[in-house]
Amino acid sequence: MAYNAAAMMDALLEAKNAVGDRTGQLDVALVLGSGLGAFADGLDGARPIPYEKIPHMPTSGVSGHAGNLVVGKKGGRRVAAMQGRPHLYEGWSAQEVVFGVRLMALLGARTLIVTNAAGGIAPGLAPGDLMAIADQLNLTGTSSLLGPNDERLGERFVDMTAAYDRDLIETANGVAGALGFELQQGVYAGLLGPAYETPAEVRMLRTLGADAVGMSTVLEVLAARQLGMRVLGISCISNLAAGISDGPLSHAEVQDTAARVRSRFESLLSGILESI
Ligand code: HPA
Repeated sequence: MAYNAAAMMDALLEAKNAVGDRTGQLDVALVLGSGLGAFADGLDGARPIPYEKIPHMPTSGVSGHAGNLVVGKKGGRRVAAMQGRPHLYEGWSAQEVVFGVRLMALLGARTLIVTNAAGGIAPGLAPGDLMAIADQLNLTGTSSLLGPNDERLGERFVDMTAAYDRDLIETANGVAGALGFELQQGVYAGLLGPAYETPAEVRMLRTLGADAVGMSTVLEVLAARQLGMRVLGISCISNLAAGISDGPLSHAEVQDTAARVRSRFESLLSGILESI
């Protein structure tokens, strides 16, 4: 079935009208990945809006993803945080996956901070490391910008030269330094999933220039750049990618590592929100 840009825009505007009086004019949009959602509960005056209460908002069934849009303040900024995100591998379309990011942009957010759990590929990355995303490889085989373009969301051909904002990475580096740890930096490869990669695929990804691998983020960043948002991406290296570590990979390991770095991750995000 042909993709209908006008219907998608109508759905976004309906969602905006439904939640706009609760969110107010947003400054920053946040997407919290696997096991990282708790940060949103610590926003000043945090108010969760369950995804089911937002017209057309896809829900995520993945364990570790709560499914709330949490609105609050941090560092004087009005923030909306997606506690969990829909993924392609759950069967959502590329356009559905980015519904929340587009909604937060229409509600005023000019900055997007995306976070995820990712497998470490580059030598020097260890489980528990936090990595600023310097650039991305969209290996999902699709794009959130597919179909007839609605100019209200931005232009047809989107420049991805500086998809991740250098100034925001510098800010994040400074915050990490003040907190006493080094923020790693690298290229994030976004794959369809849901299986973890084979060791051969991980070797291929390394050859292609990937430092970390996951199953999210890249489509959100495409949509955000189309909308002209400034983007910062932070990966929590939850495990070494397949074949780099000896043992098998599991979602439990991903969640355990996220829990272990939670306080460092939350301090980093708070510091960034206070400095931008
Ligand atoms: N591969 C893909 N996605 C992931 C990984 C991984 O190793 N770890 C967390 N998300």
